[in-house]
Amino acid sequence: MSTESASLKNHNTFALPVNAAHLVIAEQIEMMIKAWQKAQKRKEPMLVLGEGSNVLFLEDFAGTVMINNLKGIEIREQDDAWHLHVSAGENWHHLVSHTLECGIPGLENLALIPGLVGSAPIQNIGAYGIELKQVCEYVDLLDLTTGEIDRIDHQDCEFGYRESIFKHELKDGFVIVGVGLRLNKQWSPQLNYGDLTKLDPQTVTPLQVFESVCAMRRSKLPDPSITGNAGSFFKNPLVSGETANELLTQYPSMPHYPQQDGQVKLAAGWLIDQCSLKGYQIGGAAVHRQQALVLVNADNASSQDVVALARHVRNTVASKFGVWLEPEVRFIGAIGELNAVEVLS
Ligand code: FAD
Ligand code: EPU
Repeated sequence: MSTESASLKNHNTFALPVNAAHLVIAEQIEMMIKAWQKAQKRKEPMLVLGEGSNVLFLEDFAGTVMINNLKGIEIREQDDAWHLHVSAGENWHHLVSHTLECGIPGLENLALIPGLVGSAPIQNIGAYGIELKQVCEYVDLLDLTTGEIDRIDHQDCEFGYRESIFKHELKDGFVIVGVGLRLNKQWSPQLNYGDLTKLDPQTVTPLQVFESVCAMRRSKLPDPSITGNAGSFFKNPLVSGETANELLTQYPSMPHYPQQDGQVKLAAGWLIDQCSLKGYQIGGAAVHRQQALVLVNADNASSQDVVALARHVRNTVASKFGVWLEPEVRFIGAIGELNAVEVLS
């Protein structure tokens, strides 16, 4: 399906009232290539979009927004594991539920993360002690210029905390069209986070983990279908061991997570909360009252309201703690992605 000048309000979970010059819902790879060629001919930019749950549109998009709607889940069983090939337009949470219904565990900690399967490798989605990289076998990537599909092995995806090669070298002119997952038959529950630590590893079932994760998420995170938001607005910052120790002397109860490389991850939500910013509002944009890391569209916010609020939060945290937060959310301008830190500086 292809539409001229369309509203993106239902295609971004912040529910910002922005438009695109053209909107294409691509059900087949051929449609994606055609839409790209058309945009090239018009000398207009193109943006590939999933469910818009990790983007902030700063203004109308002056080209084609192409929504990935490729469907299909194939499951192949082997002695030690299930191998899944999932088309990029499948909904992530639907996949998690579907695997559990089929008696296949392994994705339960990643329940209720909004968005599409094809977007999951881009920031290596993670929650409750698991990241996509632990189950991802490969990513199928369409090169829009050549029309060829390359299979990128998981070790070449350069996965990191909210990071992958798909945010860098393999960003422009490429579309993720499929994802391969390997789910081990030998299941061991991951119960290190939050309320999951209360579950008994000897008797717990994948479904109980799934339900506990869903309950925790529902209690903290706003439902985008009711209150616009894009999940954590900022990434949790990584600081040196020295900086973490200095902060800990002043704030002994500060949550901190030492990493293998000697760096220490801090909780951005805690830093923002300590600045008493919960509920703080600029225009229609506010800091969520249950989780300070989430910025919400509280009352018909404009893109400028969200940017002004994010800038205020970032500056306030920096002046109290000397730590500069970086957005996790991707900032989209009229012709493509912008450097979010530069926009907020
Ligand atoms: P979009 O927002 O549509 O796109 C994200 C970026 O990827 C854009 O730059 C887009 O251009 C690009 N893109 C999209 N599809 C493709 C494709 N097929 N090929 C190439 N590029 C593409 N994230 C976590 O990691 N953990 C969480 O726990 C979590 N919780 C969240 C909770 C809430 C309430 C919300 C709203 C968001 C949360 N997120 C979380 C963020 C979000 O769910 C993930 O980043 C998700 O993977 C985004 O999927 P999407 O389809 O909406 O991507
Ligand atoms: N905290 C506060 N006040 C707050 C928020 C958090 O004190 O307002 C404290 C908590 O008490 C806890 C710590 O900060 O000690 C961490 O909070 P939480 O467990 O809620 O997780 P988070 O670090 O804020 C991260 C991810 C989430 C993911 C959860 C669960 C990032 C940027 N965010 O949040 O991912 O769901 O852990 O694993 O890494 C997303 O990326 O959009 C997202 C929602």
